Amino acid sequence: MGKQAKRSTVAVVMGSDSDLGVMQNCIDQLKDFGIDPVVRILSAHRTPEQAGQFAAGAAAEGIRVIIAAAGMAAHLAGAMAARSRLPVIGVPLAAAEGPMGLDALLSTVQMPPGIPVASMAIGKVGAKNAAVFAVQILALSDPALADKLEQFRRDQSDKALKKDAALQG
Ligand code: RP5
Repeated sequence: MGKQAKRSTVAVVMGSDSDLGVMQNCIDQLKDFGIDPVVRILSAHRTPEQAGQFAAGAAAEGIRVIIAAAGMAAHLAGAMAARSRLPVIGVPLAAAEGPMGLDALLSTVQMPPGIPVASMAIGKVGAKNAAVFAVQILALSDPALADKLEQFRRDQSDKALKKDAALQG
């Protein structure tokens, strides 16, 4: 992490700038909860040294959860988990070509025993849920964040109930 990097409790790392469009959903959801994440482009394959160094130093920088997103042979979340004891949430992404993210899903979720990654769904839904899951982890020791999470769940329920009510006429 560079000297100018801001401190945050959540890091959102992704393998390429081509992942940013989808991962903006994660960043925006975190910001809705008042969390301004550290955002980095780090690749397990193209910049393995930098990716490893980031993971190894993340906890000392105040990071509590790492969200790692990548497409294709998505090694990034696993590489983060290998170098850090922080919880790592993986977001598999669909590449422009190939099997619609199934490659990344299997690469992210099929971790060997002892080095887990909490894999979310493929793409935009997974990106958003990664943020919510990170908030759930942080809310365990942050009552103010827990309140925001409760409100988020209530709002979600209210929206669904209103849709049902509208259907009933
Ligand atoms: C992965 O390869 C990245 O996470 C990205 O999803 C995919 C393609 O990368 P680019 O060729 O668009 O940079 O490592």
